[in-house]
Amino acid sequence: MKGIRITGQIPLDGEVRIQGSKNAALPVMAAALLNRGTTVLKACPRITDVFLMEKILRGLGAGTRWQGDSLEISACQISGCQVERELGEKMRSSIVLLGSLLGRCKEAVLPFPGGCVIGARPIDLHLRALEALGAEFAEQDGRLYGRTGKMKGGTILFPKSSVGATENAVLAAVCGEGTSVIRGCSREPEVGWLCRFLNQAGGRISGIGTSCLVIQGVPKLHDTVFTIPPDRIAAGTYVCASAVTRGKGILIEPPVKEMKALLRAYEKIGGQYVYNSGKLFLCSQKASRPIQWLETQIYPGFPTDLQSIFLAVLACAEGDSRIKECIFEDRFKVVPQLRRMGAHIEVEEQTARVRGGTLRGTRVKAEELRGGAALVIAGLGAQGETYVENREFMERGYEDICRDLNCLGARVRKD
Ligand code: EPZ
Repeated sequence: MKGIRITGQIPLDGEVRIQGSKNAALPVMAAALLNRGTTVLKACPRITDVFLMEKILRGLGAGTRWQGDSLEISACQISGCQVERELGEKMRSSIVLLGSLLGRCKEAVLPFPGGCVIGARPIDLHLRALEALGAEFAEQDGRLYGRTGKMKGGTILFPKSSVGATENAVLAAVCGEGTSVIRGCSREPEVGWLCRFLNQAGGRISGIGTSCLVIQGVPKLHDTVFTIPPDRIAAGTYVCASAVTRGKGILIEPPVKEMKALLRAYEKIGGQYVYNSGKLFLCSQKASRPIQWLETQIYPGFPTDLQSIFLAVLACAEGDSRIKECIFEDRFKVVPQLRRMGAHIEVEEQTARVRGGTLRGTRVKAEELRGGAALVIAGLGAQGETYVENREFMERGYEDICRDLNCLGARVRKD
């Protein structure tokens, strides 16, 4: 059993450099297929989801090569448009290949992505958006078949915000014929980074950061070297690690502008911080207050990916808190494992009521990426030792959560 062993209640006081963003890297890797040349991604996180996307790209005939933390993707020739089923089924975010394959090959075959632990994860918004740009879809034997004569400019109005669907629409439109107007776009930073990458490679996208993107299709993209931005969720995880241990800590080059909602919540529980010359100085000695009401929202609201992790912090607070999950329908799956550590959490529909107190270290089980990270954070705040099973879930999104937490002064090890 691969797990993580954590010694609790050591006040953190170290410094850690923030890794590249998983959710920025994956769509940019898919976008590299649109360039019939070579794309270099610097500061690319060495995480299993990136390695899986790399395997998928190679399966499509692209070449990939690592040089330190730079990933080079050569897509001069690609041999097909069919994502290998067993690879695609392992990572639902491979759905973002739909837009780039349609843009590159006018065809795409992917495993129909199922749901996962946190929800049904439908793709209706993806399909409607791509149909508006000239694609047609069919499903057969658990596979999604997409094709188009040519991706043409069109108007898309998303009825609700979807990161992946926005990314797919952008990828399909950037080399399409004509101009596309996409309203109701997700404003998550990762959408902006994808657009910046595409513009750097020759795309013509305006409205970045707003909910309305205007894309003038270009005949092709060109080679470029792009730096993957730091991961706001990993950085937020380490702010929570400092808070739950009532310690300090310094984050090097965190994307603070993308972390405002988390840092507001951190201040509400009594955390104090200063950002200066690329370093975020944390002081959590007083970070023990509860939060009367917190809810996850689309950006720039509090990120759903930090909900479970912040829940672990509130489970160790001095008082009652409530946190509402407004993005995914089933994102309190970690609660039973937190209860095994003595957490007092009641879930009613989409709201968790937390009575803060002292957690006790024990053996718990990760079931998905951010819930697993939440258990590690809970272990840092608990008395005694905690063992979190199924480390592979955390390795999907964190390069090395043990290395990073130990840099911050924790005592955490793979076991
Ligand atoms: C992205 O997932 C992220 N993944 C998720 O991070 C993140 O939690 C999520 O955005 C929300 O911020 C990547 O970027 C790889 P959505 P995505 O489409 O694109 C519903 C992590 O831990 N919806 O914005 O799949 C959907 O069910 C992962 O790093 C539809 O109804 O999220 C959800 O309730 C977990 N129809 C809501 O929209 C659709 O066609 C938001 O989903 C698509 C989505």
